[in-house]
Parts: sequence; structure tokens; C-alpha cells
Amino acid sequence: MVMNRVVVTGGAGYIGSHTLMELLALDHEVCVLDSFANSSPKALVRVSKLAGRKFAVESADIRDEQALYRIFNAFKPDAVIHFAGLKAVAEGETKPVDYYDVNVAGTLNLLKAMTASNCSRIIFSSSATVYGDPDYLPLDETHPCRPASVYGRSKYFAEQVLFDWARATPRRNAIVLRYFNPVGAHESGEIGEDPQDIPNNLMPFIAQVASGLRQQLAIYGDDYETRDGTGLRDYIHVSDLARAHVAALDYASRGQVGADVFNLGSGNGATVREMLAAYEVACGRSLPSKVVSRRAGDVAASVADPSKAEKLLDWRTRHTLEEMCSSSWNWQSKNPTGYRAAESLDVSPK
Ligand code: NAD
Ligand code: WQD
Repeated sequence: MVMNRVVVTGGAGYIGSHTLMELLALDHEVCVLDSFANSSPKALVRVSKLAGRKFAVESADIRDEQALYRIFNAFKPDAVIHFAGLKAVAEGETKPVDYYDVNVAGTLNLLKAMTASNCSRIIFSSSATVYGDPDYLPLDETHPCRPASVYGRSKYFAEQVLFDWARATPRRNAIVLRYFNPVGAHESGEIGEDPQDIPNNLMPFIAQVASGLRQQLAIYGDDYETRDGTGLRDYIHVSDLARAHVAALDYASRGQVGADVFNLGSGNGATVREMLAAYEVACGRSLPSKVVSRRAGDVAASVADPSKAEKLLDWRTRHTLEEMCSSSWNWQSKNPTGYRAAESLDVSPK
């Protein structure tokens, strides 16, 4: 394993904070770059305490080109892991300019700063949503991309930019990771997903029903062609996802050039009802729910074929659905208001 200097954009966010734990455990030098638009610096305090290490933190927006030049020229990264972005599918439909600005133009700015500081490797957070309505399951990386939302198209366009950037000069490498449905929390219960508003996604919504913050789960349709009629998804434990980034960094450090795309999922699906039942076991009580109409834009089922990542990154998921639910419940019950009540401390190196 080669030690890397890594700029982690969006490192204070849900997936970024879990990935920091893996990077710090392997002695990589990290610089977190985050605007805290959808996260709290307190997450970084928790990461620093858990990992027993300090690291550089830059409060900056990826749309601020000059700030990026300054940070990259000072830190001189070997690689970038690029999590920063806007991710709420419904919000993207009403704020397309913001979504393209942050997710596409922000990515372009990063590439400019990387080029100026001679950094030639980037790992990018993409999404299975780029595939759109599946022609077949499980989805492999050659499945056509037909994103059906502004958010999905912003990820698709950013992917195209990265492919062209990587092809333009021989030694560059862009690794695009298409996540399926990340859920769960760190085993400590100290870091986890902290929605700022009403959760859009299934697991954080169930977690808030379990902790009494929400009355009941609305199940978006039970007339899909799945085993119980509810939507089926490939849930992946966030710590498994975090490990995949370190595996991708290692792969990139072994001299890969050009662009690579990997699906990150378990290869198994769970329905909404199965997820709810697993969460009821984890939290030890039954949770109220009611079936409502379908949510616009939802597909019946989405499952990854993760065999390419298993083969080339030597990575596979380890955590079960039960562990995804129990770790989520551990985080939720310890932190019912997320990081809002958490302590504030400086984590930057002196
Ligand atoms: P998150 O919102 O928790 O993390 C994103 C981080 O980026 C936050 O810390 C936020 O403050 C920061 N950020 C946002 N705009 C910024 C800007 N303009 N400049 C600098 N920082 C900015 O989201 P997450 O769930 O950790 O997702 C991380 C990445 O993975 C995102 O790009 C997201 O689109 C992608 N992704 C997420 C999921 C998911 O279900 N969580 C699935 C597929 C892909
Ligand atoms: C899962 C299932 C819902 C909430 C989205 C984005 C994707 C990625 C992950 C960022 C579906 C059902 C949900 C609820 C429900 N995000 N559901 N009641 O839609 O697969 O993917 O998040 O990149 O891009 O599109 O995930 O968790 O929203 O939904 O019944 O309150 O749960 O209909 O079947 P989705 P989800």
C-alpha cells in the first residue's frame, strides 16, 4: 500500500467522514476541503478523535477557483477523492443551475487546480442513478446510461468530463465509482448520516420513525413487480463503501492510467418492507407505516453487478442488512439530533 497525500472534497459529509476513517487508519495524509453546505465541522472532530490523528481542514467551496488553486498549491496532493456535491434528487429539479454549477462546474474547477499542481489521480462519487430505468438486472458497468433527473444528469456529465480529462494526457487516472444505496453508520455510533431536513432516503427516514422524530414511514407504492410489490434496492453499508475508496486509491497508485468505472453494491436487493422489518428487529419495536402512491421517477428495482470491483479492486462487501440496520440504529439512538448537540473542537494540525 502506497501512502498518498489526498485532498478529500466533501470529507465532512456522510460518506466522506467514513472514508476519512479508512484513510487515516492507513496513514494517508489528508486535507479535507468542504464548504459545510450539508455537513457539520463536528463530524471532523469526531473522526479526528476516533482515528487519534489530526488532519488539515479547509473551509472552501469547490466553485471558488482561486481557493482551490491556493489549497492545491500548498498541500500538493497525489490524489483527490471527490465527494463534494449536491445530492437531493427532488431539489435538483427545482434548482438545476445550482446542481450543474456544483456537480459539474465544481468538478471542472477541481481538475484545473489539479492540473496546476500536477495532481493526476481523481476518484469520483457517482451514482447508480446514471443508469436510469434498467434494461436488465443486475446492472453492470456497460449498461446504457439514461439518467432521468437533473441530479443524475449532473453526475453523468461530470463523468464525461472526467473521462475526457483522463484521456487527454497519458499519465492521468480518473476512477468513477457508481454507488448503489449507501446506508448504515460507523461501528462506534459516533459518525453517521445527519440529514439537515426531512430525510429523502429510506433508511434515514425509518431511523427517525424509530427514534420518534417522525410518525410513520410512507411506503411509496406496493404495486411494483417485485417479490412483495415494494421498491427493491441494493443497499451497501457505508463502511464497505468507504473501504472501496481506499481500494480504488491503491489501484490508482499502482500506475493505472485512463478512466475506470466501478459499480459499488452488494449484488443483492432488499425491498422497502424487508428493510422495515430488518430495522424493527434492530430497534426492538414495530414501526408504523402506510402505503401511499408511487414517488415520481422511482424504478421498481435496482441491483448492482459488483464483479468488476471485486476482481480489479480486490474488494467486496462484508456487512449484512442486519448490520446496516443495527449500526444505523446505534448512531440514531446515540445522536437523535445528529451532530447538532455535539462538541466543537479544532482538528487542524498546529
Ligand atoms: P453529503 O451531503 O453528506 O456530503 C457531501 C459533502 O459535500 C458535504 O459535506 C457538503 O457540505 C459538501 N459540499 C456540498 N457542496 C459543496 C461545495 N460547493 N463545495 C464544497 N463542499 C461542498 O453527501 P454524501 O451522502 O456523503 O454523498 C457524497 C457524494 O456521493 C455526493 O457527491 C453524492 O452525490 C454521491 N452519492 C451519494 C449517495 C447517497 O445515497 N448518499 C449515492 C450515490 C452517490
Ligand atoms: C429506496 C426505496 C423508495 C423513502 C436515491 C437517489 C440515488 C442515490 C440514493 C444519491 C425506493 C422507497 C423511500 C420513503 C419509501 N442518492 N422509499 N419511503 O431512490 O433508490 O436512490 O438515493 O446519489 O441517486 O435516487 O433511494 O432511499 O430514496 O429509496 O418507500 O420515505 O425506498 O420508493 O423504493 P433511491 P431511497
